[in-house]
Amino acid sequence: MNPKFSIAFATALVALTAAGSVQAYDPDWKRGRVYYRMVCTECHEAKAGGAINPATKTKAEWAAYIQADKHAKGKESLKRYVSKQYRDSIKATNKAAAKFADVPEQELLEDLKAFLNKGAKDGDAPAKCS
Ligand code: HEC
Repeated sequence: MNPKFSIAFATALVALTAAGSVQAYDPDWKRGRVYYRMVCTECHEAKAGGAINPATKTKAEWAAYIQADKHAKGKESLKRYVSKQYRDSIKATNKAAAKFADVPEQELLEDLKAFLNKGAKDGDAPAKCS
């Protein structure tokens, strides 16, 4: 193999491996459910006038909502609420935030997506908040 080609080949291999490892995360919808109920719902009950039922949106609507990353009528980022920083800020009084304090943000987001996908109006198990 000539050197130029082998560098290109090695780069492609690294890129493929990296993509593979991202894909390899197998979302834990149960962890997503715990987080949704104990973090998202807890605040909705206190500040959004009541719980927001996962079955109020379809799978496609949840996917678009998460993708848009606009929360509370677009005032802020949704991802902020799965961030380590946010979990840190509430972990003294929130058991789920404390328990999942060290989970990578991307994994927790995937878990949440998996739960919302399952609990959506057209999901496998349309979910209430509790
Ligand atoms: C610290 C409080 C708080 C947390 C935590 C929180 N929310 Fe909210 N959320 C709100 C409030 C307040 C509203 C209502 C905003 C309004 O109607 O003006 C809202 C509204 C929503 C809505 C309705 C659409 C919208 O954006 O206005 C959805 C869906 C939602 N939240 C999803 C989530 C999810 C998923 C999480 C957890 C990852 C989460 N929220 C965490 C306070 C929170």
